[in-house]
Amino acid sequence: MTVAATRDTATPAPHIPTSRCAVSPPSAVTVSPGTGRGAVDPEAAVAFLTQFYAETSPKTSFHSRLRDVRREIAATGSYHQTIEELTFGARVAWRNSARCIGRLYWNSLRVRDRREIDEPGQVAQECVEHLRDATRDGRIRSTITIFAADRPGRPGPHIHNDQLIRYAGHRLPSGDVRGDRQYVALTDRAVALGWSPPDPPGRFDVLPLLISSGEADPQVFDIPPDAVLEVPLRHPDYPWFAELRLRWHAVPAISNMPLVIGGITYPATPFNGWYLGTEVGARNLTDAHRYDLLPVLAQCLGLDRSSDRTMWRDRALVEMVRAVQHSFDEAGVTMADHHTESERFLLHVARERNAGRRCPADWSWIVPPVSGGLTQVFHRYYDEPDPDARPAFLPAPTAAAVAVQPDGASA
Ligand code: ARG
Repeated sequence: MTVAATRDTATPAPHIPTSRCAVSPPSAVTVSPGTGRGAVDPEAAVAFLTQFYAETSPKTSFHSRLRDVRREIAATGSYHQTIEELTFGARVAWRNSARCIGRLYWNSLRVRDRREIDEPGQVAQECVEHLRDATRDGRIRSTITIFAADRPGRPGPHIHNDQLIRYAGHRLPSGDVRGDRQYVALTDRAVALGWSPPDPPGRFDVLPLLISSGEADPQVFDIPPDAVLEVPLRHPDYPWFAELRLRWHAVPAISNMPLVIGGITYPATPFNGWYLGTEVGARNLTDAHRYDLLPVLAQCLGLDRSSDRTMWRDRALVEMVRAVQHSFDEAGVTMADHHTESERFLLHVARERNAGRRCPADWSWIVPPVSGGLTQVFHRYYDEPDPDARPAFLPAPTAAAVAVQPDGASA
């Protein structure tokens, strides 16, 4: 469901026109999360509880809950949210994700409550369980796993990868890169921390998880191959396409956006939806700073590349998206298409309006990277995103906050 297509800088989520390529920072290397936060702001807790009580019907009375929470904050600097509060908070954070076209199903997000876990090895193990749980042989379910919160003087764990599954970008002695160019820095970092990349390096080697606790260096954990469902790519009309030996993984699981609910920051909350075909076919495999496969594909298609005006890129791009969509469909792996997802999003916008809520959306992220004008989401504007909206998934605390991609905001 094309969850949060969101991401950007360190704390307050500014309106930086970073590229819309990944959900994560371009370099995908995050900085140290610091030493934990101060006490929870009681007013943030009150604002959240007010919303929670307005939209749902909790058993405990509002006033007694408020009193307990205030007391707990005064005594400990933080408070424990009920599973109902946590679930509502995570769902509304999704609903507030202005860059996500797939928000129609915000209220069905499954929450795995792992707030007792902050040790990197256990976090890694639960990330693997998350993948198994969410993948279900291809019938993908939108799922979030919530690890320990930041507490005063005691930060929660930190997952340094921008998504649980990413392919390595190996630097070759020739200076070329094998794999996903966007992940060269993360690959280098994993190697520096002790990861042994496959030998010889491949184009689709799944990176290990880099997870830290407190100020310590990240530890490196391999993801077992059976937790990573992948789809080999074929084209419905061109048998030779399979010989390109391309593939992509089934589950996009964003893992570096802190979740803030009622004044509490949960720094490690991997969450996934399912892919939209264009994310893989019209970005990951084709962007020049990713796999850059359009020239190869155009050559196989016998297209005239002598000028941009032959539109060889455009023609190859559509065939790539078709191949991705076809392969996922044949493999029985959930994948949305941009036409359907555009209609669903506008239904979501209408529902939100009927519920009396704003529905902030970032046009440049909502409109698909191919055939924009063929989808209805193109032909209108939306409520302005509000960086202070809460609950929210915050931009990753990353050094790459400053690294604006060359292709700008609207690719
Ligand atoms: N665009 C990202 C990627 O290609 C995934 C972002 C989240 N997308 C989603 N459908 N939930 O890996």
